[in-house]
Amino acid sequence: MLDRKPAAAIPGGNAVNGARLYQSCMGCHSLGENDVGPRHRGVVGRAAGSVPDYAYSAALRKSGLVWTPANLDKWLTNPQKLVPSTKMYFSVVKPQDRADIIAYLAQQK
Ligand code: HEC
Repeated sequence: MLDRKPAAAIPGGNAVNGARLYQSCMGCHSLGENDVGPRHRGVVGRAAGSVPDYAYSAALRKSGLVWTPANLDKWLTNPQKLVPSTKMYFSVVKPQDRADIIAYLAQQK
């Protein structure tokens, strides 16, 4: 099912709503500091597993992914499906919510 989703479900992303939805990520992430998960500033366009002082799973570090909006959409749909054995266990069910969060992250350069 995941694979039949069009890659670019993003144009409708609302960054203002995404900022609100990002609060659900903040149990583990922040923009500027590593926490349970790696810091997020600049994540859109960044190679996966590339924050130097964060201890990633081997699976994510070796994934070879780049965080394009399309890959972020797959990741937030089901991290374990995109990168088996990753240590992120959290997903965002609604496509619009994912698009909004990605639009917000894209602004955090
Ligand atoms: C329960 C904790 C938790 C929550 C909540 C969480 N994450 Fe994560 N996230 C992680 C962990 C842990 C990793 C590192 C995964 C690994 O190394 O395999 C991660 C990694 C990531 C990465 C990869 C970053 C990189 O540098 O490669 C992205 C992107 C990401 N999370 C986005 C999000 C977003 C967006 C949300 C909110 C919708 C979110 N996460 C919610 C724990 C969480």
